[in-house]
Amino acid sequence: MAFAPLILRAPCKPNDPMRVAVFVSGHGSNLQALINDTKRSTSPYEIALVISNEKDAFALKRAEHAGLKWKVISHKDYKSRDEFDAQLLKACKAAKIELVVLAGFMRLLSSAFLKEYRNRVVNVHPALCPSFPGLHAQKQALAAGVWYSGCTVHIVNEGVDTGAIIAQSSVPILSDDDEDKLIHRIQAKEHKLFKTVIRAIAKGKVSTDGKTVRFADRDKMLLA
Ligand code: GRF
Repeated sequence: MAFAPLILRAPCKPNDPMRVAVFVSGHGSNLQALINDTKRSTSPYEIALVISNEKDAFALKRAEHAGLKWKVISHKDYKSRDEFDAQLLKACKAAKIELVVLAGFMRLLSSAFLKEYRNRVVNVHPALCPSFPGLHAQKQALAAGVWYSGCTVHIVNEGVDTGAIIAQSSVPILSDDDEDKLIHRIQAKEHKLFKTVIRAIAKGKVSTDGKTVRFADRDKMLLA
């Protein structure tokens, strides 16, 4: 398969901001970073919808405060993952969502959802993939004794943090680090990397052949 941009913007509306849905489950510091980013008048994307599967997620307060459209779709209200995902899909379709951003969303998406949004769901994981997938990535990195960890923004596939890597950012692990210190150091990087990647996707600078990703700004970012 040839490389193609993740999002193909409608040629009739090239200047309309890309419509993004942010899925959350908890604190929402990444959501806040994206909210702050979209407040800049030049943003090529807008947060058209926030969905939480947890009704008490602090992220929802951030969405409300920012005047965003938000919705709770609780997995507990549905018998199966397919039924839950069907509701997520319905909400995204109704809001004409182009890109789905997982920002601390603690559920796995089904094949049915991913089929509809193939290569248009991205996640931020707090490790340098393919190392330390799944839960407690920072704790895993500390236990492994690695000197560097970081964060990865990747395309979401059916696996756990196994989708094609779009971009990464590294942090050193210091000798007296504990899990909390590492979580915070990595999150500061996530907040920068996620918005950079989403802007790049909106501008057609991220393409994939279904297996790997080409990111036009890769070398510029690495050598900055
Ligand atoms: C982030 O560390 C992200 O890497 C992981 O979940 C955490 C969410 O944090 N997927 P927040 O809710 O954005 O503060």
